[in-house]
Amino acid sequence: MTKQKKSIYVCQACGYQTLKWMGRCPDCGQWNSMVEEVTSPERKEKRSSFMSELQSIDKISLAPEMRLKTDISEFDRTLGGGVVPGSLILIGGDPGIGKSTLILQVLDRLARNGCRALYISGEESPQQIKLRAERLAVHSDGLFVIAGTCIEDLFEELKRLKPDLVAVDSIQTIYTDAIASAPGSVGQVREVAAQLMAFAKQSGIPVFLIGHVTKEGAIAGPKVLEHLVDTVLYFEGDRGHVFRILRAVKNRYGSTNEIGVFEMKDSGLAEVGNPSSIFLEQRPQDAPGSVVIPCLEGTRPVLVEIQALVGPSPLGMPRRTAVGVDHNRVSLLVAVLAKRMGMQLTDQDIFVNVAGGLKVEEPAADLGIVSAMMSSFLERPVDRRTVVFGEVGLAGEVRGVSQPDLRIREAKKLGFSRCLLSRSNLEGVRTPQGMELAGVESVQDLHEILFN
Ligand code: TYD
Ligand code: MG
Repeated sequence: MTKQKKSIYVCQACGYQTLKWMGRCPDCGQWNSMVEEVTSPERKEKRSSFMSELQSIDKISLAPEMRLKTDISEFDRTLGGGVVPGSLILIGGDPGIGKSTLILQVLDRLARNGCRALYISGEESPQQIKLRAERLAVHSDGLFVIAGTCIEDLFEELKRLKPDLVAVDSIQTIYTDAIASAPGSVGQVREVAAQLMAFAKQSGIPVFLIGHVTKEGAIAGPKVLEHLVDTVLYFEGDRGHVFRILRAVKNRYGSTNEIGVFEMKDSGLAEVGNPSSIFLEQRPQDAPGSVVIPCLEGTRPVLVEIQALVGPSPLGMPRRTAVGVDHNRVSLLVAVLAKRMGMQLTDQDIFVNVAGGLKVEEPAADLGIVSAMMSSFLERPVDRRTVVFGEVGLAGEVRGVSQPDLRIREAKKLGFSRCLLSRSNLEGVRTPQGMELAGVESVQDLHEILFN
């Protein structure tokens, strides 16, 4: 009997598999994204598997201090308190955002703490890595570097070096012999990640994967790996801004939505211990349309400035643009203002922006967006020592949000003296000294308090 080659077609956009080629992926609707992947059956047995011994959960022992600390506290916090042994951590982000820089700095810190760290690069030569390292002042002798792309060869090296920690930059450049398709395709990326996963779990060595995200929804990128890995961190930021935010979107060993804030400098990434003050640094004084909100990023309160510009539109179809906040949310709030406050907004261009390139996804920002729009529309500045937070409903009512105390304390710390929040939140909080709290029930209330 001859062994037949088996081929499947895999959508490069979402990973959907079929036995027949199709012009359009039935799952994600992408055109022309199906690529043939051949798996030869005799290679099948080589597939890496992982099985621990059978034991009662009571008998499994934990080492007292399990996590490796990098001493870069923004990074440790995002991971939930350090690197868990045997975990597979994916760091995704746009090309050029600073992933290689970040991981090199992290490995350097760990190497300085006595770990043997290995940096595998499929993109750069050792000389190029050295150039970057010089710039970052990275030179621990515990940090090893290797350039290569074949995972089987790299495993040989791993066996020889026996590192305490491995980083693979980037997962899209590494391939395995077990699959015929090109490096960077969904099949390759998945298989390589699965092999590294088995390696991490068997050896207890944590492995970092770096993955590029492309603008058009990640071709064979981090998205197809999210379910496989233990932790997914996204490194985001606007290339025009110096701030970079490391955000945990999945974490088996910690809370998600935790963030770390960094600043890209000439000598690499520097931690930003107090993001609020940075985001408010260049705030205009007494300008209409600017208001500060205390939002929560994970467990951490961050003050950000929301700006709005509302003005008569020269176009038949007025423009509505939202940067850093959800576009639909802004449309909804515009409708609430028009209906509940009788504001004539239909012929106005409306732009809403979060200063500093941050993204705010919380409903607590609603009250800030509404205040900024009102302020710009009325050409009346909001008192600059005032912060606002709360969710706004369709009836124009202001609703409570989580952790009001934390938000108020952060505002107090940065010198704000008045806070507007929902009535329901007001009932449960302690008023710190030097802070005036005002409860608002509706957008009409808000208008009354802010502008009278
Ligand atoms: P890099 O880490 O190569 O990005 P990625 O691996 O995500 O593709 O960083 C790319 C950018 O960072 C590059 O445009 C230059 C900038 N950079 C600095 O500003 N300072 C530095 O010390 C380094 C190493 C890079
Ligand atoms: Mg890179």
